[in-house]
Amino acid sequence: MFEVDKEKCIHCGLCIKDCSAKALQFNDENVPEIDEKKCFECQHCLAVCPVGAISVCGKKPENSDKIYFQNPDMILNLIKSRRSYRHYKQENLSKDKIQKLKYMLNYVPTGCNFHKLHFAFIDDIEVMNQFRDYVNKKIVDALTKKPVKAIINKFNRHLKSFLNGEDVVFRGAPHMVVVSTPVDAPCYNVDPMIALSYFELYAQSMNVGTCWCGLAEFCLLIMPELSDYLNIPKGYKASYVMLFGEPDIKYARTIQPEPFEIESVQKGTFKKLGFVDKMKRYFWNLK
Ligand SMILES: Cc1cc2nc3c(=O)[nH]c(=O)nc-3n(C[C@H](O)[C@H](O)[C@H](O)COP(=O)(O)O)c2cc1C
Repeated sequence: MFEVDKEKCIHCGLCIKDCSAKALQFNDENVPEIDEKKCFECQHCLAVCPVGAISVCGKKPENSDKIYFQNPDMILNLIKSRRSYRHYKQENLSKDKIQKLKYMLNYVPTGCNFHKLHFAFIDDIEVMNQFRDYVNKKIVDALTKKPVKAIINKFNRHLKSFLNGEDVVFRGAPHMVVVSTPVDAPCYNVDPMIALSYFELYAQSMNVGTCWCGLAEFCLLIMPELSDYLNIPKGYKASYVMLFGEPDIKYARTIQPEPFEIESVQKGTFKKLGFVDKMKRYFWNLK
């Protein structure tokens, strides 16, 4: 799984330095060699080698992309101009854009390089409309029947809109992606959110509108048949949903958000906390 082109290797040791699993070391000929048991397949060795001497996990350096990104201001502008879209054209996004979005997902980071996310795409507006109609009908039914109403009281404040036929949950989006993780993934609660954050920004860089959808996530929770319909594999939990499609609205400028509290910790000694304060912190951190 790990090959070094001895003609190319300059014995710089960068691959060894950057191997966080400590799976690499120089052999007697001063060439890096691997302890495969320790490797967790992050491919940092392939990425860091300045002369492209390392192939790993069947991947050759000549098949990697060059790194040419140079304009952080463009990224900042993209982040600032990102919006939640709630108006979409009633048409399919181009196949090319959908393909690019799917391809990008292979590059998102996962804790411990677990790399086992599952993405269920609805990339056909007709399928989306079927899905939407099914969910909306079930919500309206439940909202008008007393015994079930309590389960979905989250939707109560939208009752009027639902009865008016408004698409409160899916915002008229022609597409959605549902990300799921194995329930035993080391970072099951974080990996899906990272993936969708990358998805959102890359989508908006291509003028594709997106919207995080907590309401759809709730629907997946209370209607288990939806996960089956989406072919979410056994042992996986649907984590979050993002709507997307060709926007039917254009934002002319960025917003001006209230700043978060962002503090730099100063040099100093640790405070001695009393027992009660310690316990408060302890339980608060566990929440
Ligand atoms: C985790 C999360 C869940 C959200 N769920 C919904 C949702 O169910 N429906 C919706 O219309 N917007 C949803 N939003 C969008 C937020 O309401 C939105 O971020 C907020 O209105 C600010 O607008 P902006 O994203 O354009 O800055 C969600 C956003 C996040 C981050």
